[in-house]
Amino acid sequence: MGSYGAPAAEGGGRGRGGARYYPPLSALVVSAIAAFSAVIVLAVLHSVYDGAVSRTRTLLGHNLEPTPWHLFPHAKGRPPPRAALRCAPSFACLPPLSQPRPQPPPAAAAPPAGRKRRQCPAYFAAIRRDLAPWRQRDAGGGGGGVTRALLEAARRRASMRVTITGGGRRLHVDLYYACVQSRALFTGWSLLQLMRRYPGRVPDVDLMFDCMDRPAINRTEHAGGDPPPPLFRYCTTRDHFDIPFPDWSFWGWPETNIEPWNVEFKSIKVGAKATRWVDRVPTAYWKGNPDVASPLRVALLGCNDTNLWHAEIMRQNWTDEAKAGYQHSKLSTQCTHRYKIYAEGFAWSVSLKYILSCGSTALLIEPEYEDFFSRGLEPRVNHLPVSRQGMCESIRDAVEWGNGNPAEAERVGRRGQRLMQDLRMSAVYDYMLHLLTEYAALMDFRPAPPPEAQEACEGSVLCIADDKQRRFLEASRAEPAVDEPCVMPPE
Ligand SMILES: *[C@@H]1O[C@H](CO)[C@@H](O)[C@H](O)[C@H]1NC(C)=O
Ligand SMILES: *[C@@H]1O[C@H](CO)[C@@H](O)[C@H](O)[C@H]1NC(C)=O
Ligand SMILES: *[C@@H]1O[C@H](CO)[C@@H](O)[C@H](O)[C@H]1NC(C)=O
Repeated sequence: MGSYGAPAAEGGGRGRGGARYYPPLSALVVSAIAAFSAVIVLAVLHSVYDGAVSRTRTLLGHNLEPTPWHLFPHAKGRPPPRAALRCAPSFACLPPLSQPRPQPPPAAAAPPAGRKRRQCPAYFAAIRRDLAPWRQRDAGGGGGGVTRALLEAARRRASMRVTITGGGRRLHVDLYYACVQSRALFTGWSLLQLMRRYPGRVPDVDLMFDCMDRPAINRTEHAGGDPPPPLFRYCTTRDHFDIPFPDWSFWGWPETNIEPWNVEFKSIKVGAKATRWVDRVPTAYWKGNPDVASPLRVALLGCNDTNLWHAEIMRQNWTDEAKAGYQHSKLSTQCTHRYKIYAEGFAWSVSLKYILSCGSTALLIEPEYEDFFSRGLEPRVNHLPVSRQGMCESIRDAVEWGNGNPAEAERVGRRGQRLMQDLRMSAVYDYMLHLLTEYAALMDFRPAPPPEAQEACEGSVLCIADDKQRRFLEASRAEPAVDEPCVMPPE
């Protein structure tokens, strides 16, 4: 019974006199060596494991650098290390774990009889303008489609490459950089939901996507000669060739507690019903974060005077808001003023749709950036324009005009709300479908995921998400469409 554990086991008898015995020195040495080796083995295992975790890429980008062209430091979503491995697509997308692959619709399913196919909103026409640089033109023109070389050129400013293959059934993402917050996760999810909504209808594509804010493909620098590199992102400007694509917030923005668009629109509309336009405060209101390197928003702080400029400008501190459980940032309780100001941030702002939803008259400070639906904005029809020069005076003039012409101002507000009502999720998915379909038609090569790309499926996205993200993702799940997609406006 040489076990040196024994004395301890008998340790209850500590007071039983001096007969304690000690293990021989050799046993101590042996056990020290054993313990030491165990530590080494554990350390090796741990580092192999760490290595595997650090090589396992996820849509959170936890092991990638942020894009070099981003100004702000940002926290990357960091999954618990075990989740990174457990959620690796190679496990999470195995058939039993991933969602069942949607079945193709019955061949040539005719649209329900007597049901006229919906026309797409007029701003869908912008899809053709956005893709015009890659269209085949007649001999002598540029055009010539999306080539591998152009795609490779777009890579320089992309944060990820996205491929859809297998008849619109498989999504692969090759992430080059970490995206801010959970943008990549939600954008991957948005594509998966498009594939779920239109099983077998999403074309095979190979595209470069940048998840950061500002457009990168300068029109002047790519004038004449070869077509520009095709790069998808959330916005563009009239001076850029970047191709706008619906941003993540339509599927929810957990970091600011903004619900998926269909949920958020409904609750804002209910909030808007609480107070009729005429009974709202007859001034202009803005609430947001001015600290986003936006000279415009900083200048807007200077218009904070209800007497002089009829404007109330409030600061949103998201850190404080998060601590207070987002009680004061609820968008549905912000339809209290007749006029709501929209001011761009570092680039386009996702707030536009929430502002327009109130039915208040939207005052848009000369936007520089466009997102996919903001091409549906018409001055004096669904919003009032405010100029950047003499901004406070311009706000004051708009408010005075509206209070002098309340019926007309209210109609402008109602048309803005209508534009948002028509921007239901089915329209968002239809925009994505038409955009990808037209883009796919321009590709002059067959899409195939690069070897480094990882498959993304609902299982892998839900697995890597934290609890809050998962709640938003599940709430924004699409159902297979019962209607045909809307019909593009005529050329
Ligand atoms: C595009 O490039 C030109 C020439 O380099 C420059 O003058 C212009 O400011 C750039 N435009 C934008 C929107 O960055
Ligand atoms: C704007 O003015 C109001 C009322 O004076 C004040 O409560 C608010 O804090 C001001 N906003 C900012 C951003 O300073
Ligand atoms: C927001 O609030 C946090 C915590 O209360 C504070 O540290 C930070 O300075 C505030 N930011 C701004 C821009 O006021």
